[in-house]
Amino acid sequence: MSQITVTEHLLLRQKQSPMATGQFTSLLTELILSAKIISREVTKAGLVDVLGFTGETNVQGEKVRKLDEFANNVLIHRMRRAGVLCAMASEENGDIIPVEGEFPQGDYILIFDPLDGSSNIDVNVSIGTIFSIYRRPKEKRGDAPCLSDVLQKCENQVCSGYFIYGSSTMMVYTTGDGVHGFTLDPSVGEFLLSHENMQIPKKGKIYSVNEAYWNSWDTATKDVLSYFKSHQNAEGKPYSSRYIGSLVADFHRNLLYGGIFMYPPRVFENGKRQGKLRLLCEAAPMAMLVEQAGGMATDGTNRILDYFPTELHQRVPLFIGSPEDVQIVKDIYEHHE
Ligand code: AHG
Ligand code: MN
Ligand code: MN
Ligand code: MN
Repeated sequence: MSQITVTEHLLLRQKQSPMATGQFTSLLTELILSAKIISREVTKAGLVDVLGFTGETNVQGEKVRKLDEFANNVLIHRMRRAGVLCAMASEENGDIIPVEGEFPQGDYILIFDPLDGSSNIDVNVSIGTIFSIYRRPKEKRGDAPCLSDVLQKCENQVCSGYFIYGSSTMMVYTTGDGVHGFTLDPSVGEFLLSHENMQIPKKGKIYSVNEAYWNSWDTATKDVLSYFKSHQNAEGKPYSSRYIGSLVADFHRNLLYGGIFMYPPRVFENGKRQGKLRLLCEAAPMAMLVEQAGGMATDGTNRILDYFPTELHQRVPLFIGSPEDVQIVKDIYEHHE
């Protein structure tokens, strides 16, 4: 493995990019430290009292686990003091978290899913942290941070990525200049460059979906699934089905091996058709990564990065991964329109 640390990699790119600022490097440095703290706690889970629920229910209607709360608190506490943000938004908080008052303000907005794959925490299966960074419009600098600063077109992201706490801890990120992966060397506490310029295979071997929702899918979605079951994958063999239930882990595997992750819309008894994944803290950051890696991300019809969010916790259907596999889904949906 190379001995290039993520900080060196950042600084090198910063020199090459006229857009980059010291403030941005500080943001990522602080974010990396937060992730190392979360990773340390994840590794100790089972030994210390971080498993199980807090007894609270979050804004998503989900039972909060102790590690969700821990990760959220670490990120809010550290990032608020960094002097690089004007606002944050988290999957776990109903409203935006303004950075003001006693805390120094910066130009960036950080949106995160502090702990992705919560249901896997207690059973020792890979989980992660997802992040997405925007810049505040210049003309709004100095104003009190507000929701409209955060609700920007998803294409405006200046950086996105994730940390995965798996067989090793990795950081994968993009600033719009390719996707790069780093592996934490626990003996020195540094993320070292292990996957430079990651590219997703054009066509994959795997599809990932929670098929238990079959009865709540519309005909178009059922046709999508039937397609993947009855056609050959990139190797001329039947597709494999793999579903972990942590978006980060399912995405990471498909990024490396090629494939498609699907969280289709479910049709509920009241006729409402809705995806589960959160646009701002899950779908949009992964969409930026996948496009930078040569892949695609859509809700079945519309490109995810073309979304202009109207609500902080907006949910979207998500089909993301190898471009030829995602195109198949788009074609089937279009045929059903
Ligand atoms: P989170 O743990 O941050 O709430 O996210 C869970 C998400 C995502 O990680 C995963 O892909 C999906 O929910 C799984 O949902 P189902 O259990 O409905 O398949
Ligand atoms: Mn959750
Ligand atoms: Mn999540
Ligand atoms: Mn989460």
